[in-house]
Amino acid sequence: MSGSRKLFIKSYGCQMNVYDSYRMADTMAHDGYVETHRPEDADLIVLNTCNIRERAVEKVYSELGRIREMKSAAKQEGRNVLVAVAGCVAQAEGVEIMRRAPVVDLVIGPQNIHRLPDLASRVKRGKAIIDTEFPVEDKFNYLVAPTRTKTRTRGITAFVTVQEGCDKFCTFCVVPYTRGSEVSRPAMKIVEEVDRLTQAGVTEVTLIGQNVNAYHGTGPDGGAWTLARLFERLSKIPEIVRLRYTTSHPRDMSEDLINAHRDLPKLMPFLHLPIQSGSDRVLREMNRRHSRREYLEIISHLRAARPDIAISSDFIVGFPGETDKDFEDTLNLIREIEFASTYSFKYSARPGTGAAELDSQISESVKNERLACLQALTEKQRHAFNESMHGRTLDVLFEKPGRLPGQITGRSPYLQPVQVIAPSHLIGKVMPVRIVNIGSNGLFGEIAITANNSKFCAFATGVA
Ligand code: SAH
Ligand code: SF4
Ligand code: F3S
Repeated sequence: MSGSRKLFIKSYGCQMNVYDSYRMADTMAHDGYVETHRPEDADLIVLNTCNIRERAVEKVYSELGRIREMKSAAKQEGRNVLVAVAGCVAQAEGVEIMRRAPVVDLVIGPQNIHRLPDLASRVKRGKAIIDTEFPVEDKFNYLVAPTRTKTRTRGITAFVTVQEGCDKFCTFCVVPYTRGSEVSRPAMKIVEEVDRLTQAGVTEVTLIGQNVNAYHGTGPDGGAWTLARLFERLSKIPEIVRLRYTTSHPRDMSEDLINAHRDLPKLMPFLHLPIQSGSDRVLREMNRRHSRREYLEIISHLRAARPDIAISSDFIVGFPGETDKDFEDTLNLIREIEFASTYSFKYSARPGTGAAELDSQISESVKNERLACLQALTEKQRHAFNESMHGRTLDVLFEKPGRLPGQITGRSPYLQPVQVIAPSHLIGKVMPVRIVNIGSNGLFGEIAITANNSKFCAFATGVA
């Protein structure tokens, strides 16, 4: 074969999958695979899949339909393409995937992606393989090394997995089945990885995990470190200017983490804290193991610790048995808290989960109605939150060129995208930006003129 082999990876679902795709690209790079953005050029195609809702799964099967055509076109040119399905659909469906889509050569669960090079070379020798056993070896025995393999260019911001899996078993959710039980990475592995990322130019790190605030990794002293303790350590890395984390569970919102929002200036004032429902009855049925009142108390403690903290959340409408009154409780909770941003979904029954068995499933039309109603409210709150930034000066970390020539784009501390006309050498820096315009999906501003940056004022006009 001439030249290096090409790898195409497509990620679905959450940031954990995005991170795992980096890991797969890294491990395959050692085997001589170079990443391509064109699936039709690839020798190995990996779909890193999500199983959270039925629609997410359907997307994978329709993509596999397109890949089947690509594979037979390549075959006519005498090229053999390997197709792998990784991620949460792989874990949940296993052999069923190959039955529904015989184009697939390899099914590999999220716990086993470190075995991808070995499995891919075995598949090449002939037989289809399914590897969805939870491994006995240390699944955190890896380090993503962006400086060594330049298969994916990292930007200014990076995600780092600190914890995987979930022991909570919410009755609607597949994650405990697809990702296994909760495991935390040792603290110093994370510190080492963040150190390496800074060498590649990263200045903002988001720590990720299905239950990130349940983090309890072993520290260098042998004892378990909390997430707050880890943030304290990461704060000491001079190149890191911003720290974030997602996704948290209300049950694990400990006092030291709340206090970290007060004490660590690098920890950004934004928290994604899913509640799912504002009804105590539904929360119980969901096995969320906290009440509406407890959630409200957490928010008020957070706001006492960091008055400007922006709160975001996830909601499910149409959970089995959800009454008009339950739904009204959710709307009232949203009115009471005022969220900066939210994600909301129609309940999707997932095979093997407790709630899928309940008789009291809600009709699609009621789900549609409730979702539209909830989103009208949350959109209004998102706009109000963005509008409240008008005229204010916010610190913006610039990440990349903007959509229009001469523009650069970054994020406010509250995770809002901010577009500014400014020179590209400011990418990677935090600058004060005065917000002069509010768009539907972000803010527009101009570099604020201070004694230290007055030389940029020439660029601070003419915001789109
Ligand atoms: N670990 C996080 C979220 C994991 S999944 C947590 O504890 O909240 C991301 C979001 O998908 C969830 O917050 C929930 O709102 C949504 N979700 C999960 N399962 C779902 C289902 N069966 N139907 C609809 N939405 C679902
Ligand atoms: Fe799923 Fe609940 Fe675990 Fe979140 S806490 S991943 S919603 S089971
Ligand atoms: Fe989806 Fe698995 Fe993430 S189901 S949301 S890819 S943990």
